[in-house]
Amino acid sequence: MKKTLIVCFSILTFSAFCQSKLDVKKEFDLAAKQYEGMLASHPDLTQFPQSTLPNGSPRNMKSDWWCSGFFGGSLWYIYQYNHDPKWKEAADKWTMAVEKEKFNTRTHDLGFMLYCPFGNGYRLTKKPEYKDIMLTGAKSLATRFDPKVGLIKSWESFAGGYKYPVIIDNMMNLEFLFWAAKESGNKDFYNLSVTHADNTMKNHYRPDFSSYHVLCYGPNGEVLAKKTHQGAADESAWARGQSWGLYGYTVMYRETKDKKYLDFARNIANFYLNNPNLPADKVPYWDFSKVGEERDASAAAICASALLELSTYGGKDAKKFYDSAVKMLESLSTPAYKAELGKNNYFILMHSTGHKPGNSEIDVPLVYADYYYLEGLLRYDALKNKKKLF
Ligand code: GLY
Repeated sequence: MKKTLIVCFSILTFSAFCQSKLDVKKEFDLAAKQYEGMLASHPDLTQFPQSTLPNGSPRNMKSDWWCSGFFGGSLWYIYQYNHDPKWKEAADKWTMAVEKEKFNTRTHDLGFMLYCPFGNGYRLTKKPEYKDIMLTGAKSLATRFDPKVGLIKSWESFAGGYKYPVIIDNMMNLEFLFWAAKESGNKDFYNLSVTHADNTMKNHYRPDFSSYHVLCYGPNGEVLAKKTHQGAADESAWARGQSWGLYGYTVMYRETKDKKYLDFARNIANFYLNNPNLPADKVPYWDFSKVGEERDASAAAICASALLELSTYGGKDAKKFYDSAVKMLESLSTPAYKAELGKNNYFILMHSTGHKPGNSEIDVPLVYADYYYLEGLLRYDALKNKKKLF
């Protein structure tokens, strides 16, 4: 039975590969040229590329902002593709620039900040220093899990006096904790991730498998309020939040092999892909309720990368997930979203939306859009060449 499924899936994916317009080599050559400009324009290792300011100049951030790990992570992805030692050197520099955040217990974003640069760096080089830094960081992250609540706390507070807000984005930190559980032998990292994911599944999702952005919890895990921060309305579906959840539950299945997570990830994917408000190029509006407004290329890039992994787990929708991911990557690779060489402050992609209700980062490049786009291209390339996903 399993063999039949694999054969069917191979035939289906083979026909899709034949039709795709994606040229991974061309995209990585362009990404490398663009990021040469980014490296040259960022000589200060405390100023991490993030986005573009309204006046068109680069927007940089310090290492304690949640996006600081993506640049180093993208440099590792370029090195993974082209094996040129100069990219390894650059990736190492921008990875080590985040090191001090391993002691940061004031953020839930250590998965993004540490696992994207150090995790990829460790996977590709096995440098022991990277592992030590990540294990310290994982302990810092785990301090934000209160067993009485059963979730990792995202922020210290939220408007309305709430003291235990949890955002859907937080699902993205669990991959880091699963890695830490395996490397350290400490099952606590595994168990708290499962508890967080189960409570998020129970409370954060609506019957149509769309997700709220922010849930505010009380001291015993009771849900006090269901809100948004970056979405259009409390009851709307903020596009990037849907992508974070999809990616998170796909990882949950990979790490636990519990079928309930696989079913859940498939249901989230179907909410996304069957949504009448998803445009034909499959790059969502920044919120699913805001048809005609700005797109969010970052949401599409995250979603594409997650869908490629989800497609490898078979099932009746595997081909749909694969084809949709390819369509997203194809769309992002057209001039409608991909910047000309030397433009866009050296970011690869244009047209992402960071925080529209906060009037911040609207229709701009975002460093994490580039990161998940490169990840998606690498995953596409691996599947096309019948290799295992990394
Ligand atoms: N994690 C914050 C965001 O997705 O904008």
